[in-house]
Amino acid sequence: SANKKLLVLPGDGIGPEVMREVRRVIDWMEHRRAARFSIDEGLVGGAAIDATGQPCPDATLEAARQADAVLFGSVGGPKWDSLPFEQRPELGILRLRKELGLFANLRPAVVLDPLVDASSLKPDVVRGLDIMIVRESTGGIYFGEPRGIHKDAAGKRVGIDTEVYSEDEIARVARVAFDLARQRRNKVTSTEKANVMQSGRLWRAVVSEVHKAEYADVELEHMYADNAAMQLCSRPKQFDVILGSNLFGDVLSDLAAALTGSLGMLPSATLGAVQPSGKRHALYEPIHGSAPDIAGKGVANPSAQILSFAMLLRISFGMEEDAKLIETAVEKVLGGGLRTADIMQPGMARVSTSVMGESVVRELEKLAN
Ligand code: NAD
Ligand code: IPM
Ligand code: MN
Repeated sequence: SANKKLLVLPGDGIGPEVMREVRRVIDWMEHRRAARFSIDEGLVGGAAIDATGQPCPDATLEAARQADAVLFGSVGGPKWDSLPFEQRPELGILRLRKELGLFANLRPAVVLDPLVDASSLKPDVVRGLDIMIVRESTGGIYFGEPRGIHKDAAGKRVGIDTEVYSEDEIARVARVAFDLARQRRNKVTSTEKANVMQSGRLWRAVVSEVHKAEYADVELEHMYADNAAMQLCSRPKQFDVILGSNLFGDVLSDLAAALTGSLGMLPSATLGAVQPSGKRHALYEPIHGSAPDIAGKGVANPSAQILSFAMLLRISFGMEEDAKLIETAVEKVLGGGLRTADIMQPGMARVSTSVMGESVVRELEKLAN
């Protein structure tokens, strides 16, 4: 079969640093697993602004459209923070999601056994935690009109964002959540603020309708998003799949990351609709950003980026065995006591980004033998 086309977009800050460690894993796969990828690298974010003036140049968008899957690093940083809003690096990822129709952002939060004590919560509260957050990612307040900073009649500035959701947008992401639940523990918790927001009222109604018509076998619970944040911190194991809007899903997934020990651990997949040709656009990225506070120091945790690649292999390339191998290798490295600074614990050995990546490859080699 033809080589799988992979577009790699390292971006800014720690993006290129953690992406280098994925390259190590890819090299290993090509040598030892006879995997064949056709890899292109592209510009996005601040790096693309510096080279082309655009956070997501047309060439990058086109390459993403042609690729079988996109592996994305992270974008943004202080260097570009004072640019006009329409030119910020963050627009790079937003444009890719929007133009490729990547409406479902899957963010698994799993507490690995070796990291039970790295969590900010008590071990008993998080041991064995395995939740999946499904975040809507092409609509809502991130894109709704009107938006902007305007002057009111008295000449005072007014900042405006608008949350807009159509019933079709809600229904299609709800179906993704219900489908995932069926493969897991069969429960969906849908979050919104139907008590104060009109878009939240519609969200609750549509999720209930889709549930009744197509997924009555799945347990559905509605929960206000503020309560969900509290419940995630107090009793996270009650959750299986959590469904939320673009904004609530973003906030709840950073919170869930803290439960697992570090933002540096969590991967994600952002998927579009399956097209008539069978093709499905997909982008994989850690949920963390460019981490300007540690960029350039070689201390970032590459796990989230490596695990994002594992998700890519599983979902886009159907390479379940290789995906599992990589996930197991990461867990073994952690189990062996190696830790980047973000998950450092007493008695463990503190290692750099590259030693972490090399160690994952070493474990892969052991597992393969
Ligand atoms: P961030 O996720 O970059 O960092 C938050 C904190 O987590 C920092 O203390 C950072 O050092 C730490 N951290 C993050 N990833 C880590 C890793 N792999 N290993 C160790 N520690 C890690 O969020 P922020 O500081 O709010 O944002 C920084 C920049 O990144 C901003 O420009 C923001 O817009 C952008 N951002 C981009 C993405 C993306 O590209 N998808 C996501 C989030 C934020
Ligand atoms: C994320 C980030 C992005 C978001 C930013 C950088 C646009 O926080 O991927 O979680 O808010 O979606
Ligand atoms: Mn975020």
